[in-house]
Amino acid sequence: MARGLFLTFEGIDGSGKSTQSRLLADALRDAGHEVVLTREPGGSKGAEEIRKLLVEGDTNRWSPETEILLFNAARRDHLERTIRPALDRGAVVISDRFADSTRVYQGAVRADLRQTVDALHDLIIGVEPDRTFIIDMDPEAALKRGLARNSGEDRFEDFGLDFQHRLQTGFRTLAAEYPDRCALIDGNRPPEQVAADILPLALQALA
Ligand code: TMP
Repeated sequence: MARGLFLTFEGIDGSGKSTQSRLLADALRDAGHEVVLTREPGGSKGAEEIRKLLVEGDTNRWSPETEILLFNAARRDHLERTIRPALDRGAVVISDRFADSTRVYQGAVRADLRQTVDALHDLIIGVEPDRTFIIDMDPEAALKRGLARNSGEDRFEDFGLDFQHRLQTGFRTLAAEYPDRCALIDGNRPPEQVAADILPLALQALA
């Protein structure tokens, strides 16, 4: 398969990963690369429709098991229609979240379901990013920032501060599990400083 480069950003809600995804996309475009900036849940028409089901409404709207199925349904559509075609033509794909979010949110924090998450991932998705940037940020500041947006997409923020602390631990554990792929980046700094750490790692992955 002709291949571009697949980069992902991960982190707790409000960690600044969407800003960092944008900054990296801009920097790589300036360097002359074709960049497809996308996100999960979402990134294709069908997946954006599934997104609304997942991020709006009451915390108890879905069980963790149902969430796993919905996130994977959205991811499969995103992969078929957006990610694979872009990688096949040699583009850089930057996704704001991917399968690591399911490993941490549904596999470790919402419930202890990592085996189910891994089995379904292997069956239905079977793709890993080339490099993943995990933005590590103080949960209290991140939650405040996330809720201040008033986005109407607060279903996961509504699980509360303890949930965000457990997510932070989950992402740190994940970074240790995949040390070659995942870089843990200190997000408690101005965005330009955080971006300055990420760009050289992305350029290294491109080289
Ligand atoms: P976003 O706010 O970063 O766009 O993500 C939407 C929410 O969905 C966020 O709270 C994290 C959550 N999420 C999961 O729980 N599992 C997943 O697999 C993904 C992709 C996101």
